[in-house]
Amino acid sequence: MIEAVVFDLDGVITDTAHYHFLAWKQLANEIGITIDETFNEMLKGISRLDSLELILQYGNRQHDFSTEEKEEMANKKNDHYRLYLNDLKPEHVLPGIPELIRNIKAEGIQIGLASVSKNAGTVLKALELEAAFDFCADAAKISKSKPDPEIFLTACSGLSADPLRSIGIEDAVAGIESIKASGMFAVGVGHTLQEADLVFETTNQLQWVNIKEEFDHWISRC
Ligand code: BG6
Ligand code: MG
Repeated sequence: MIEAVVFDLDGVITDTAHYHFLAWKQLANEIGITIDETFNEMLKGISRLDSLELILQYGNRQHDFSTEEKEEMANKKNDHYRLYLNDLKPEHVLPGIPELIRNIKAEGIQIGLASVSKNAGTVLKALELEAAFDFCADAAKISKSKPDPEIFLTACSGLSADPLRSIGIEDAVAGIESIKASGMFAVGVGHTLQEADLVFETTNQLQWVNIKEEFDHWISRC
């Protein structure tokens, strides 16, 4: 029996992963670093300050700024990001997600959120999706970002669900690693997610019947 389905937010529920990229690109430009979508794959699922460190390393500028300056830059990125959030509306929930949530709920299975974004509350509110989640792990209380399993384990624990009988859905390499490290069944959305137990190219293809079937095969082999 499946005890819970735990979703990542950015890039799974809505395309805020792209807004994060645009905001980082803008911040990076301001300090003379150019980043592209390929590099951005490494930032997905990574906390704000850890993402900044990766960008500075990429531009070979990791020793050029004080802790205070880095905090200022991270805040500036967040200001850029939040401007994009102003335009976020319920119609920006990615295709296939409302139906998936409905199908999971119809079976009485609990739904959780495991996002390391401190803006997760704002995003869910803008999408009018707050009520869909039985428990949202609080990013502010998480000490280790993905790929550490802490956030998925926290979500399972908040739902009183056994991770070994639960499913995580992610679009990030670090996120899939986090799900696998927690012992859950990992569903990936997108490319370069070979470590996932099941991969779909787009959210549109996230069919609940298929996910359940693959979960049953997986659990019978465990
Ligand atoms: C994750 C995103 O969900 O949240 C990352 O995939 C982002 O790109 C991280 O850096 C932290 O988000 P925020 O909103 O707290 O800066
Ligand atoms: Mg994501």
